Amino acid sequence: MYYACTITTNPPRHMNFKLSEEHIMIRDAARNFAQTELLPGVIERDNKQEFPHEQIKKLGDLGFLGMMTSPEYGGGGMDTVSYVIAMEELSKIDASTSVVVSVNNSLVCWGLDTFGSPHQKEKYLTKIATGKSIGAFCLSEPEAGSDATSQKTTAIEKEDHYVINGTKNWITNGGTADYYLVIAQTHPEKKHKGINAFIIEKGWEGFEIGPKEDKLGIRGSDTHSLIFNDVKVPKENRIGEDGFGFKFAMKTLAGGRIGIAAQALGIAAGAYELALKYAKVRKSFGTEICNHQAIAFKLADIHTEIEAARMLVMKAAVDKDNGDDYDLSGAMAKLYASKVAMEVTVEAVQIHGGNGFVKEYHVERLMRDAKITQIYEGTSEIQKIVISRNILRD
Ligand code: CAA
Repeated sequence: MYYACTITTNPPRHMNFKLSEEHIMIRDAARNFAQTELLPGVIERDNKQEFPHEQIKKLGDLGFLGMMTSPEYGGGGMDTVSYVIAMEELSKIDASTSVVVSVNNSLVCWGLDTFGSPHQKEKYLTKIATGKSIGAFCLSEPEAGSDATSQKTTAIEKEDHYVINGTKNWITNGGTADYYLVIAQTHPEKKHKGINAFIIEKGWEGFEIGPKEDKLGIRGSDTHSLIFNDVKVPKENRIGEDGFGFKFAMKTLAGGRIGIAAQALGIAAGAYELALKYAKVRKSFGTEICNHQAIAFKLADIHTEIEAARMLVMKAAVDKDNGDDYDLSGAMAKLYASKVAMEVTVEAVQIHGGNGFVKEYHVERLMRDAKITQIYEGTSEIQKIVISRNILRD
């Protein structure tokens, strides 16, 4: 396995279709962790809907939870290419764990590192980037999923604090997080320009964690609704200027989508590797099934699709690292890689035949896990809105 493109470690950055030594080290470390720490128990965690507490702690100790965060605040100071390489490797084996890595890195740490105040970074980011604490990103609501400007959660300004009321839905790390980035409406008359983002701590009065969702896939991850009843939040916990909250959410999600694209790529690549291995040993009609053109052509198709997805993911990561606009490339990477994840995992189950339908062969789980990559951090339809607006504006 190799990567389609990467960047040199120092500017000027350019495509050279090779990984740097540093990137190879990160890839190997993530790959090794996935094999030794995630693979044992991955089926059981999926069956029992068990959060990977121990694995997340180890990932934090190894620096995988704040990869792109400034070293000053406990992060690894790495580039986005390193992050997507790690996301791909972890997702090949366990997407329930990799979504925790993704949300913590690109929605919570990146958002705080880029837009938080020095006080917020000192108090919260240092703990989240090192994995001592976990973060969650709370934008979606029962009636504001794709239509994110329609926030119903309110943040009413008082003298030295805000009072938050409302409900958030489908929140990754909802039960396990320590700190929550919560988007809420302060000035409804200003529509999205009246929205703010806040840091809320678990355990604050009036903050209740709703029941855990029973999901089709990524069952080891922890998804909850959150209820805010007159939760008092100090003004110093507002991120950015008054009214910056929607921009904060959009800018942060644009990078988050690159992480989910890498997750989708990893799910596809993991399923492909299993299918290839299986096709080389499983026999039918007197030969290994990879010798049947019906199977060989499936493998050819999915290998090609995965390589194309990897190019788009790397392009988006390189755009972000170069300081170029990555709204378009990130949306294209997520749209395409999530489609590939769905198609490849379905084919991987098919190549496995009856065994593909059985849990111990892993591919049925990867197929179930693939679906969410077309939904969270912006559905495929939302990615098409972002892409079409970008290309029509040019
Ligand atoms: N960067 C900066 N600003 C942006 C932006 C971006 N990428 N995208 C939009 N904006 C700004 C616009 O410029 C505009 O601001 P101005 O008026 O000041 O110019 C403002 O945001 C509103 O934009 P639109 O008019 O385009 O708003 P819209 O209502 O048409 O919707 C949308 C835009 C792109 C569809 C947006 O609503 C969206 O992304 N929806 C999907 C939400 C989403 O991804 N939810 C996922 C939940 S998080 C999650 O899944 C996490 C998890 O736990 C795993």
